[in-house]
Amino acid sequence: MFNKKTIRDVDVRGKKVLVRVDFNVPIQDGKVGDDTRIRASLPTLNYLLQNGAALILCSHLGRPKQGPDPKYSLRPVAEHLARLLGQEVFFAEDCIGPKAEAAAARLQPGQVLLLENTRFHPGEEKNDPEMARQLAALADLYVNDAFGSAHRAHASTEGVAHFLPAVAGFLMEKEIQYLGAAIANPERPFVAVLGGAKISDKIGVIRNLLTKADSILIGGGMANTFFKAQGLEVGDSLVEADAVETARQLLEQKNGKLHLPSDVVIANAFSPDAEHKIIPLGHVPAGWRILDIGPQTVQAYSELIRSARTVVWNGPMGVFEFPAFAKGTFGIAQALAESQAVTIVGGGESVAAVQQSGLADRITHISTGGGASLEMLEGLTLPGVAALLDK
Ligand code: 3PG
Repeated sequence: MFNKKTIRDVDVRGKKVLVRVDFNVPIQDGKVGDDTRIRASLPTLNYLLQNGAALILCSHLGRPKQGPDPKYSLRPVAEHLARLLGQEVFFAEDCIGPKAEAAAARLQPGQVLLLENTRFHPGEEKNDPEMARQLAALADLYVNDAFGSAHRAHASTEGVAHFLPAVAGFLMEKEIQYLGAAIANPERPFVAVLGGAKISDKIGVIRNLLTKADSILIGGGMANTFFKAQGLEVGDSLVEADAVETARQLLEQKNGKLHLPSDVVIANAFSPDAEHKIIPLGHVPAGWRILDIGPQTVQAYSELIRSARTVVWNGPMGVFEFPAFAKGTFGIAQALAESQAVTIVGGGESVAAVQQSGLADRITHISTGGGASLEMLEGLTLPGVAALLDK
């Protein structure tokens, strides 16, 4: 299934191992907010430490465009990781150059060093071979465990793999196994639930899933563009005018697979305390906008989810940040939790919704990838994975 070498296939004892992790986590007031991604890397880090490696960790954080910027420093992550690992985590103020080299040279087996944000160097996003070479020079082996960044061909995610033996970590392996199996060889019925604001972000995913899934359940703002394509009145709802034609084409080739909401919750303003009501689909009055799927839709979608064997969910069904418009999203989370299917949730917002609903431990696999999980659903090859050694 997963045809790349992993850390189980190589000898790490006494080696310096450069581990690309995805520590792109929210930082609030100099502290780590949601640490899901950091925790998700622990099985790999603990395995490498227990097997006698010295760990040099690298990651990006945010999207700094102008070189080093304290706002995007990984230092708070080093402190947080030290608490999770129960051991000191050294920090180097640069990921390449003399500071990184000196810190890496001092490192002993069993010790952990975190390098500063790789995106403080423009070479990272350009996949500059010289930057990749300098990163590689710090270590004897490269491990990529950053599934969330595997769709980026950057120096620390792809380029470096050309300079060192390169294998996958456990998180990378697990993510690809779940998402890859769902796409390549799903147990059927296979139901995909797609939401979120924009259809334009998910056109490739819908096209690919139309050939793989048995049902695609659409919700969120992107449903509005489909309604518009059907000639329905959507009032002041968010619509992507330049995607209406694509939506029309997708509806034409749907073969009965594409399901749209049959009722919606509309509101007279985009606000948590807006006046709101449930209406059957068809005519949203001017001045009103669709902010959630309705109860009849939740019920119909839930039945399909409960009788599925594989379910993949990406994107919320409505504006779930506002309690009045959260029932659709939480209803879908509930249906996934109750389903006997293999359930996989990806994408920041749907993951947050599952966590808020308290149902996370009833989901088979919660992906740490946003863009990366979407690209997998789109059937694309992730460059960070392709660059690793084959089994
Ligand atoms: C993510 O948060 O999806 C990954 O860390 C990738 O971040 P990026 O979209 O800034 O490349």
